[in-house]
Amino acid sequence: MTTPPFFQLYQHNAAAVAQELLAGLSAPQAQTSPKYLYDALGSRLFEAITELPEYDLARNEAQVLSEHAQDMAAHLPAGACWIDLGAGNCEKAARLLGRFAAARYVAVDISVDFLREALEGLQRRFPALPSAGVGVDFSAGLVLPDELALDPAMPRVLFYPGSSIGNFTPEQALGFLGSLHKACGTAAGSGLLIGVDLLKDAAELEAAYDDALGVTAAFDLNLLLHINRLVGSDFALGDWRHFSRFNAQQSRVEMHLQAKRAVTVRWPGGERHFAAGQTIHTENACKWTVSGFEALLRAAGFTATRVWTDKAQRFAVCWASA
Ligand code: AVI
Repeated sequence: MTTPPFFQLYQHNAAAVAQELLAGLSAPQAQTSPKYLYDALGSRLFEAITELPEYDLARNEAQVLSEHAQDMAAHLPAGACWIDLGAGNCEKAARLLGRFAAARYVAVDISVDFLREALEGLQRRFPALPSAGVGVDFSAGLVLPDELALDPAMPRVLFYPGSSIGNFTPEQALGFLGSLHKACGTAAGSGLLIGVDLLKDAAELEAAYDDALGVTAAFDLNLLLHINRLVGSDFALGDWRHFSRFNAQQSRVEMHLQAKRAVTVRWPGGERHFAAGQTIHTENACKWTVSGFEALLRAAGFTATRVWTDKAQRFAVCWASA
């Protein structure tokens, strides 16, 4: 068994991160990118969210993937290079690689440190499968590094599960999906296997993002601690509360942190006054209809789509041919 190669391309640039965060915090409607929700504690809290009774996305996706595996195998290419976007612990892909007779596996995440252990474990389960890890921030669009030396004749399956696409606005999603279409390359049979949470009742959606145990509130509030570390600000958790609201016009759940009282937050070289009730918009989770999402995939350049859902039509897994 060989050790998988790792390519760390993302370099943390403290000044650029601080500049981005402070520009968002200083905007009339203060906002932050959802990627800052995921420091080490935030990632663990997100794992806990996926086990909450109110948050069924991950369970629904797993059900769709296992119930329709046979039909999916008829549509997806065998002998493909699987490129797992936001691979994390590589568990979701590990359930599919054998079933779809993958010929190569590339795990992509922001840091190879997150991937190392998982990928080595995966290599033990699939010793004959050539694997690699890539550390890259692909949130602004995916560009696969030359170091991977991908075979242009081998079909590619880009795998983007978990409805992470919902955390982009539709405009951002279109640009991002366009970059995935390009990354599919030119080999026949290539495409994108993507999971997306479907539009449902507003009260259910709001509960999924504001659970009774308060795990999502902790996940959201932890962002303030992360920001304090990144920019040297003095957010005090007790000044803020989490809430979620469904924005029907934009078909999205919004997460906000709301000032409980008037507060001034300071950081080196600046400050921002928040009136009581003012919010920081911390995340969008867009909810799609099947037809709306298929139209988005086609607008991004994909030619044909095949969609599988659970019986209650709560979650969709789409195969989009490049
Ligand atoms: C990662 N992403 C798909 C989750 C979602 O549902 O939008 C993040 C999340 N935020 C709050 N709960 C879960």
